[in-house]
Amino acid sequence: MKAWLFLSSIVLAGAVPAAEDTRQLAPLSAEAAATLRADMRANLLAINGILDLVAAGKLKEAGELAEKELGFAAMGKHRTLPFDARPGPQMPPEMHRIGIEGHQAANDFARIAATGDRERTIAALPSLTAPCVACHYAYRLR
Ligand code: HEC
Repeated sequence: MKAWLFLSSIVLAGAVPAAEDTRQLAPLSAEAAATLRADMRANLLAINGILDLVAAGKLKEAGELAEKELGFAAMGKHRTLPFDARPGPQMPPEMHRIGIEGHQAANDFARIAATGDRERTIAALPSLTAPCVACHYAYRLR
């Protein structure tokens, strides 16, 4: 299922009360969890940077940042780390798939931004954050 379809089903289901956490626990080692958290902070920084660039009308640069930090270029960068510290291979397959979909969405966004079409670039922005939400609402580390 595409992340944004999943997202719309969350929105339709309404807010889940904080007390009942129905997210699935992803059994990552402490080392992999630390790697993932550092990646996540970089993701947030990248999203903010992309929004800044789009707001400033720098569409090409926004696309380049998305591709470099969130796209397939950012995938597999932990290949040289010890297995215990690599989050990807330790994720449940469905979680990993949402992550890969996020990389795909970033590459698609980069292609749209590269055309310089402001309307289409803005319309594509939610496709960057939908995978973040889809994964966060489905999985937890603790
Ligand atoms: C494949 C799953 C997945 C995707 C996709 C994903 N995240 Fe996360 N993220 C997680 C998990 C799991 C945690 C840890 C949650 C917990 O502590 O239980 C996390 C934590 C975070 C944190 C907290 C980091 C810290 O220091 O503790 C931030 C910020 C974050 N994500 C941002 C993002 C952003 C922005 C995106 C999209 C560009 C994104 N994430 C996409 C799974 C994901």
